[in-house]
Amino acid sequence: MQDDAIPIIRLPNNAEVPALGQGTWNMGEKYSAEKREVESLRAGIDLGMTLIDTAEMYAEGGAEKIVGEAIRGRREEVFLVSKVYPWNAGRTGVIEACERSLSRLGVDRIDLYLLHWRGDYPLAETVEAFEGLKASGKIGAWGVSNFDTQDMEELLDVPGGRNVAANQVLYNLSRRGIEYDLLPWCQQRQIPVMAYSPIEQGRILHHPELIRTAKANQATPAQVALAFLLERDGVIVIPKTSSAARAAENRDAVSLDITDEDWAALDAAFPPPVRKKPLEML
Ligand SMILES: NC(=O)c1ccc[n+]([C@@H]2O[C@H](COP(=O)([O-])OP(=O)(O)OC[C@H]3O[C@@H](n4cnc5c(N)ncnc54)[C@H](OP(=O)(O)O)[C@@H]3O)[C@@H](O)[C@H]2O)c1
Repeated sequence: MQDDAIPIIRLPNNAEVPALGQGTWNMGEKYSAEKREVESLRAGIDLGMTLIDTAEMYAEGGAEKIVGEAIRGRREEVFLVSKVYPWNAGRTGVIEACERSLSRLGVDRIDLYLLHWRGDYPLAETVEAFEGLKASGKIGAWGVSNFDTQDMEELLDVPGGRNVAANQVLYNLSRRGIEYDLLPWCQQRQIPVMAYSPIEQGRILHHPELIRTAKANQATPAQVALAFLLERDGVIVIPKTSSAARAAENRDAVSLDITDEDWAALDAAFPPPVRKKPLEML
């Protein structure tokens, strides 16, 4: 496979990030796995997957500690994304949660801080708190996660809401609902979409059509699933792996050159939406 560069996505605040990054859900759960997890993230950074996605939720802070260990001594190489629980998304709660995340990560700034999903706090209050964190330099930008089109419309209507820098949602070959409205809505407004669970946590890898396309392209099913997302404008893809070898495999997805016939066969096997579907979540 050739060593093609990872495409770059520009966020609304002009930060440039690779379209292929790394997820961390389930990391930090088991002491015995930590060394592998850190090595895998470091291998991914070495290969240019320098955007790392984590959350205070993952292993209740354990994943942020793994990320902190993986980026020690190389903070400036990475773009860090973390998320706040909705029940911490009030005026003071956001600031306290952010400080806890900063301390676990061992950094003084989170580059992109997301509301993990919509909760009971008014959006205006969360946005005001996010803007405060930005003004104090503790975060570089803020965004949301699991927001459907209607939520995004409401967000843009609150003061400061137009500063949203990304929406992270479930998106993969088997979950194409956002292509009907949310994805084009975000693309038109240049709000990047972060595709989470891009290989459906491994569940789609046994699909016969994915296997066939992979063989036809001397690739693996995971690479084809990632290539499908990398084809889309303004989409950032964040597969998770705790294996350095799989990190390299995932990185090589940028080099696939899949034919129109193969894309058509994948469309037939994983049809795009023909009507609005409520946003799915994992
Ligand atoms: N905002 C949200 O609500 C939300 C929700 C879910 C996920 N996320 C974020 O998105 C990231 C990715 O989603 P995800 O972790 O749910 O699922 P995913 O990335 O679709 O799949 C991860 C699973 O696939 C395996 N895997 C990775 N690369 C592989 C390869 N090349 N071949 C075969 N298996 C492979 C991993 O196992 P190994 O580790 O053993 O390789 C792991 O079990 C998360 O880690 C998290 O950062 C966000």
